[in-house]
Amino acid sequence: MGRVLVTRRLPDGGLDPLAGHELIGPKPGDEPYTADELRKQARACDAFVCLLTDRIDAAVLEAGKGTLRVVANVAVGYDNIDVAAARALDIVVCNTPGVLDETTADLAFTLILGACRLASDAEHDVRAGRWHGWGVTQYLGRDAHGATLGVVGFGRIGRAVARRAEGFNMRVLHHARTDTGLEGYVADLDAMLADADIVTLHVPGGAATHHLIDARRIGLMKPSSVLVNTARGTVVDEAALADALHDGSLFAAGLDVYEREPEIHPRLLSAPRAVLLPHIGSASRATRTRMATMATEAVAAVLAGSVPPNIVRA
Ligand code: DGY
Repeated sequence: MGRVLVTRRLPDGGLDPLAGHELIGPKPGDEPYTADELRKQARACDAFVCLLTDRIDAAVLEAGKGTLRVVANVAVGYDNIDVAAARALDIVVCNTPGVLDETTADLAFTLILGACRLASDAEHDVRAGRWHGWGVTQYLGRDAHGATLGVVGFGRIGRAVARRAEGFNMRVLHHARTDTGLEGYVADLDAMLADADIVTLHVPGGAATHHLIDARRIGLMKPSSVLVNTARGTVVDEAALADALHDGSLFAAGLDVYEREPEIHPRLLSAPRAVLLPHIGSASRATRTRMATMATEAVAAVLAGSVPPNIVRA
């Protein structure tokens, strides 16, 4: 039996696989552990169950040298964990692939439709008492059905979004680093951005994708187009996106993730035609419960000496 730090509150049932283990945390008010506290816990724990908001860097992992055996992130993304440092220290890193694809694709589609149809601006006006009756020129969005969708990153979530797009009679293009061999593959990202009416991002975070969508690439997109990001905030240069929305060189945006969460660039907050959600891509009760269970099952497996299926091999 091991000693396991659970950094934050999990959905009901999420801790069941760890029955019999000594559980530390979460804090009574569910506040995040500080870097100092994480280092201290790493010295004393066999395992961490953590969230993407916990920074598990080389210093935390070093502190766990010889004690910490596994870090399980309740997320598919793991850009908050220094995986190379963990590997060097023989600490197993696990994530939650596969269980959140459809839920996240649903949310990406929520943003596609919401951004295309200016849903946030319209709702704000209703709530603020600024809507004074139907008008034929009000809130003129762009159609999602029949549009050309450019999917950047064609892993499980990107493909799940593409499947939904077929039901909207969209022409679906996709870009990935390596040729998928599938219909709609576009090797040149710039060309796809220039062709698409709606661009949706599904690449991992980290150095390789930092500001992949920068001012130059936003400038390649049609002024009538829409950018949707449910991947990681760091993939988009937020300041450049805010500028494009303010000056009208991009029609609309739908965002679930931000460069410095929970901070949001002030010019994005004031930008027109932007639907802004608080990183809820996988937030259905069933999916979040499955993610938690998958992470805690992985910890239980490693502590029992077996190899879970969801080890990060990157
Ligand atoms: C993830 O899993 O990486 C998402 O961002 C949260 O579900």
